[in-house]
Amino acid sequence: MITVRGRNIETLFSQEAIAAEIERLAGEIAQNAPDDLLVVAVLKGSFVFAADLIRALHRAGVAPEVEFISLSSYGAGTTGGAVRVVRDVETDVSGRSVLMIDDILESGRTIKFARELMLSRGARAAEVAVLLDKRMKRKAEIEADYVGFDCPDHFVVGYGMDVAHAFRELPFVGRVVED
Ligand code: IMP
Ligand code: MG
Repeated sequence: MITVRGRNIETLFSQEAIAAEIERLAGEIAQNAPDDLLVVAVLKGSFVFAADLIRALHRAGVAPEVEFISLSSYGAGTTGGAVRVVRDVETDVSGRSVLMIDDILESGRTIKFARELMLSRGARAAEVAVLLDKRMKRKAEIEADYVGFDCPDHFVVGYGMDVAHAFRELPFVGRVVED
C-alpha cells in the first residue's frame, strides 16, 4: 500500500507482473501480425500500456505504424453511454490491418465503437489488445483478441489510468482504498 495525494493505493498488478505479461502479449501478437500492421492507441488511458507494448512488439520483430485516436463517452464517469471521437486518426485505414490498443475493456462500448469505425472505413481487420478485462461489466457484444489480465470489479488507477486525470503516473495498476 502506498499513499498518493493523501489516498491509499493498493497494488493489484505490479510493475514486474505487467512487464512480463506485455512480453507474452507481444509474442502472441507477433505470431499473427501482418507486415503492414497499423497500431491505433485509444487515448487517453492506454498511452502507457501502448508505449510499453509497441516496444515489446519491436523486440518480438514487429515493425508497425503507430497512430492515435481519442475517444470519449458521453456522461463521463464510470458509467458511460454513447461514444464520440475527440481526435481522429490521420491515417486512411482502408485496406489496413489495424490493432487497437486500450487500457481496459469494461462495458465494451468504447472498443466496439472503435472497431466498427475502423471496419466501416474499410479496414481489412480490426483486432483489439487490452491490458485489463472486466468481463463481469460487459454490456456490448465484443471480446478482445489479446488480453493481459482479468480485472476484478474495482475502479482501477495507475499505469495510465486515472480518476479525474490523477494517478496516471503510477508505474503499477492499483485501486484507491476508501478511508
Ligand atoms: P467501456 O467503454 O465501458 O468498455 O470503458 C472503457 C474505458 O473506460 C477504458 O478505455 C477506460 O478509459 C475507462 N475505464 C473503465 N474502467 C476503468 C477503471 O476501472 N479505471 C480507469 N478507467 C476505466
Ligand atoms: Mg480509455
